[in-house]
Amino acid sequence: MRRLRKQNLRFLIRETKLSVDDLIVPIFVDENIKKPLEISSMPDYFRVPLDGVVKEVETCLEKNLKAFILFGIPAYKDEIGTSAYDKNGVIQKALRNIRSEFDDVVLITDVCLCEYTTHGHCGVVKDNLILNDETLPLLAKIAISHAEAGADIVAPSAMMDGMVKAIREGLDREGYQDVVIMSYAAKYASNFYSPFREAAESGFKFGDRKGYQMDFHNANEALREVELDIKEGADIVMVKPALAYLDVVYRIKQQFKMPTAAYNVSGEYSMVKAAIKLGWLNEEVIYEILTAIKRAGADLIITYHAKEIADLP
Ligand code: PBG
Repeated sequence: MRRLRKQNLRFLIRETKLSVDDLIVPIFVDENIKKPLEISSMPDYFRVPLDGVVKEVETCLEKNLKAFILFGIPAYKDEIGTSAYDKNGVIQKALRNIRSEFDDVVLITDVCLCEYTTHGHCGVVKDNLILNDETLPLLAKIAISHAEAGADIVAPSAMMDGMVKAIREGLDREGYQDVVIMSYAAKYASNFYSPFREAAESGFKFGDRKGYQMDFHNANEALREVELDIKEGADIVMVKPALAYLDVVYRIKQQFKMPTAAYNVSGEYSMVKAAIKLGWLNEEVIYEILTAIKRAGADLIITYHAKEIADLP
């Protein structure tokens, strides 16, 4: 076996090769700031102001990173997240700003309520319950407003039953048949999201998300979630988080052969960055992790490491 591991020819027989084409860069757009703001629990990662978003995209394009997923931190929040579908909302403005400068970038938007509601939950709340069917029309409205502002792909992450169907119908009705749906199909109620909640100011005021996001003890259930989302019209299915869920990525890819995305989430990023900063791990670990996610079956990887990995040799 060692003949093929010689330094000069190893590369020839590599089964999995990570490329910048596999990566999606998350951008946090904050309507309330004037200059980039570092996220304390995500070293080297920043929220960007609305008028800094074009520059951020430009920096990524120089590294050949062409796909972006946008998260908004709005100036205004209310009970039902109306600023999420405001024509002049933070994401809608960011989309238009980017679109007016670059034609061929891929713009993806997170479709959810949690960053836009005062209670911080992903759906409409009544008597401390998160209502499913009342949330669906709002998610469709958000997706339509993103499409209108120039999104190529909408990514619903609220984990409401029937959300993909509601969004597909809404988009089609409004003439956005070409807009792609990348569904957060198997999204687990995970402890790995806490840095994101600081980053996107989307922490919840009561309870938890276990009533809508998946229980991490389950994997067969992920297959059922994905099957439903495909039936409802998802074009790309996502597993989230990635690293502790590679079995789920693998099984989904094997079973459905769909374009499959994995979200290398905030906590996975912070964990690795902390260890690198302490000198306990070296940077190549990032490359190893992302390659492993691809090896498990992910075609696309959303990762906060995108920019730094593009710089690694
Ligand atoms: C919004 C959303 C979350 C993440 C992506 N979209 C947070 C959550 O569900 O609590 C997490 C991303 C990350 O941790 O990097 N629903």
